[in-house]
Amino acid sequence: MAQVTYARGSRRTAHPERTTTGLARPTIAGMDTEVLRPRRIWLMLLVAVVAGAIMVAPYVLLDIRSSRLDVDGGWHYGLLVAHVFTAGVALVLGPLQFVPAIRARRRWHRRIGRTYLLAGVLPAALTAVPVALLSGRIITQVGLVIPAAGWLMTGSLAVRAIRRGDVTAHREWMTRNYALTFLAVTARILVPLMLLTGLATGVVAPAGAQAAATSLIPVGQVLGWVIDLAVAEVLIRRARRSRSASRPARAARGRAPARP
Ligand code: HEM
Repeated sequence: MAQVTYARGSRRTAHPERTTTGLARPTIAGMDTEVLRPRRIWLMLLVAVVAGAIMVAPYVLLDIRSSRLDVDGGWHYGLLVAHVFTAGVALVLGPLQFVPAIRARRRWHRRIGRTYLLAGVLPAALTAVPVALLSGRIITQVGLVIPAAGWLMTGSLAVRAIRRGDVTAHREWMTRNYALTFLAVTARILVPLMLLTGLATGVVAPAGAQAAATSLIPVGQVLGWVIDLAVAEVLIRRARRSRSASRPARAARGRAPARP
């Protein structure tokens, strides 16, 4: 089981998960080192909400003519719409799980986490596979089936970790999981960036910009998750380092004589 500890100088309460600022500041072993600083979490949430709204908007009216993708027919469109809506749920709920105040309220953290995985990641990954295969582009087929499988794998490893009480491993797997979710945003930032670079350097002629953008989409789809996973790994290792650096200090505090 995860071990609940109390920040120094705080008052204990019977329900540490319900405490608010000013009272006990509970930390669960392994949760006391943040992967992301609060300002970055809010920025990520803002980007997720805005990007999610832009991505989902063309599909809200269920009008196949508004689809940004060329779809083969009803099935392809149905799967795509299911993917877009459920992936949107994961994109927006994910950042909330990094907010310290929500993580401290464990019931909320659990509820949001279950919705993120069961109504977001699971159906979005399962629909992403046929949608990728129907794309007819080999880079999209291989390059997006891999993160879809990774989405399911990291999610189930995160659940298994928390079931055995390993909060640190849970947080690390969820960080990787959300890095995969965020591929949708990163990929859509990368494509125009690569296109602008191509135009600025003369590699892409203005007349060929449209064709270049189309061929850059699969490249962005692959680079999106590769970059996100690399960033997640850097953040995870940084949190591990700061955890091991703070361990001697905590141990020393533990050895300090009790105050009268
Ligand atoms: C691991 C994560 C994800 C995977 C593997 C994935 C996979 C896919 C695949 C295979 C396609 C079809 C691409 C094509 O035919 O070119 C697609 C399209 C799409 N996905 Fe995802 N996706 C993921 C995350 C997300 C997220 C988080 C969103 C957020 C809403 C999202 C929104 C969309 C949209 C809107 C489309 C349709 C294309 C467009 O209108 O721009 N996806 N996705």
